Amino acid sequence: MNKIELRTKAELEALLCKYFKQRQFPDYALYLGDSGTKNWLDLDNSTEFTVASSLTYLLRQNAPALARHLAKRFDMVSIGVGSGEKERILLETLVKRSDLTYYAVDISSEMVDKALVTVADMDIKKTGVVAFLEDLPRIKQLWTSPVLLCLLGNNFCNYDPDYLLETVHAQLQYDDLFLFDCQLLQQQRKEQIEQMYHSQLNVYFNLDPFIRRGMNPDDGVFHLELLPLETDLGTIYRTKKWLEILKDTRISCGTDSILFKAGEIINMPGFTYKYTRPQVRSYLHRHGFQEVELFLSPCETNLLILTRKTPTG
Ligand SMILES: C[S@@+](CC[C@H](N)C(=O)[O-])C[C@H]1O[C@@H](n2cnc3c(N)ncnc32)[C@H](O)[C@@H]1O
Repeated sequence: MNKIELRTKAELEALLCKYFKQRQFPDYALYLGDSGTKNWLDLDNSTEFTVASSLTYLLRQNAPALARHLAKRFDMVSIGVGSGEKERILLETLVKRSDLTYYAVDISSEMVDKALVTVADMDIKKTGVVAFLEDLPRIKQLWTSPVLLCLLGNNFCNYDPDYLLETVHAQLQYDDLFLFDCQLLQQQRKEQIEQMYHSQLNVYFNLDPFIRRGMNPDDGVFHLELLPLETDLGTIYRTKKWLEILKDTRISCGTDSILFKAGEIINMPGFTYKYTRPQVRSYLHRHGFQEVELFLSPCETNLLILTRKTPTG
């Protein structure tokens, strides 16, 4: 299997130790290793936590409509690919019309392996890439335009929208396409959404990196709130997460071990935004993107959108 490591395991572990020492617990730690991969797949396959899996339907329904916008030859690059099930749905339709090369990108090396296995039987050129989304300028060196850049499974909502759209805009050319999906905010569903984030499996998913490094499961509590945030586009919602240490606990990280004292708060800077449809549109327009096609789920709870850079002049 063809795999490129822009980030090595040792580098990611060293970075993680640095974060832990600063009392920070970044989201990427949740997905690392065989256990992080298994935890995410268990969560994603459960009926308790349907944020990413509920978006699969939109892709299945709309893959043929999306295919009409693609060139005869292009590169498909999906970042935060996970096990690559959604990408497979798209690829099955796209290969019938186009000659394409597929890049499965994720910060978890084990996820990249899974994504490559997911398409192992398909007769396409494929490469796995271990990298952060933040490495986009380096990832771009690998692809040839036109490109279809994908962020699927609600990944779009896990980054600051201004940072994300500015970064993507800077790397794309005018004939490239950007595809993403997200769960939309509907006030009446706010409680349901909160409940999902408080589900037992999601709590375990968020605690496990500490548990597997030596913390007793009862010695830490995971907290999560869905909070309103006032912006110039109105109120958006964002999750806030943290880990509270209840009893002195020592965790291992690489060759280091780090002591956390009872009462310490470990900040988890990862978050998920919840937007309304007009807010997603406004962010896109503000950052120089135009809609090519937009698809909504029947109750308008989910959105899938194909965009490109708005031509200037
Ligand atoms: C919520 S999961 C979604 C996975 C998949 N797209 C799906 O729909 O099931 C997020 C994925 O992004 C990866 N990830 C997290 N932070 C990342 C980052 N900064 N850069 C690249 N990948 C990241 C994780 O390893 C994980 O596979």
